[in-house]
Amino acid sequence: MSQQRKFFVGGNWKMNGSKQSIEGIAGFLKTGPLDPKTEVVVAPPTCYLEYTRKTVDAKVGVAAQNCYKVASGAFTGDISANMIKDLDCEWVILGHSERRNVFGESDQLIGEKTKYALSQGVKVIACIGEKLEEREGGKTEEVVFRQTQAIIENISADQWVSVVIAYEPVWAIGTGKTATPEQAQEVHEKLRTWLADKVSSEVAAAVRIIYGGSVNASNCKELATKGDIDGFLVGGASLKPDFVQIINARQN
Ligand code: 13P
Repeated sequence: MSQQRKFFVGGNWKMNGSKQSIEGIAGFLKTGPLDPKTEVVVAPPTCYLEYTRKTVDAKVGVAAQNCYKVASGAFTGDISANMIKDLDCEWVILGHSERRNVFGESDQLIGEKTKYALSQGVKVIACIGEKLEEREGGKTEEVVFRQTQAIIENISADQWVSVVIAYEPVWAIGTGKTATPEQAQEVHEKLRTWLADKVSSEVAAAVRIIYGGSVNASNCKELATKGDIDGFLVGGASLKPDFVQIINARQN
C-alpha cells in the first residue's frame, strides 16, 4: 500500500542558520546522492526563504515554517501564503508543536491557516502530536484525531493531495527520545483508518503520514520499514550531512 505514496523527508531548520550554513546544507544536498524516490523539502527561517530557494537545487522543495490565514493586512510579524508563493516556495509547515505550545495556536486557527494556504496553491505539512502527559493519560488518539479534525473541517477531500500529515509526538521533539517504530506505526495506522472513515478510503490510502521527533541517521532505517510511515520531518539532524542518510532511509 505504501508503494503508491512517495517517501517524503522534510528538514525543519526551526530558528537556526545563516547564509553561510545554508550554503553548506545546499552543498551536501547537491553532493548527495539523494534517492530520487524521495521527495525532499527544507524549511528555513522566514528571512532566508528566498535565499534558500535560490541556493538549493530546484528539485528540493522549500517550505515556510508558518504563515497567517489571510493575504495581507495589519498582522505585524507575520507572512502570508501569497508571499511564500511570490518567492517561488511551494510549501508551508502549519501547526508545529512549537507554534501550538510556545505561541498558543489553536486547532481552529491551524485549520483556517491550512484552508487559506491551500486556496493559494501552497502545499501544507500539517503537524499533529500529543504531549507526554496526554500519552501517559491514554489520550494520544483523542488528541491527534481532534487536531486532524480541525483540518478536515477546513478543506475539501480533493485538497488532501496537497497535504502531508506530520505526526510529531511532543515528547520526542528535540529530546533524543524517539518513538519506537512500533509506537509511531501504531498511531499512523490508527490515523489512516480514522481518515478512511472521516474523509474517504482513497484519501486515507494516498495521504502521506510522516513521523517527526529525534529522527537521526541511526534510527531512520528501522522507522522507514513500517508500512504507514511515509517519511520524516527532521529537526536537528536536518542541519547536518546526516540528513542525506535520512533522505535515503529506504535504500539498502
Ligand atoms: P528534532 O528532529 O530536532 O527532534 O525535531 C523534530 C521536529 O520538530 C521537526 O519538525
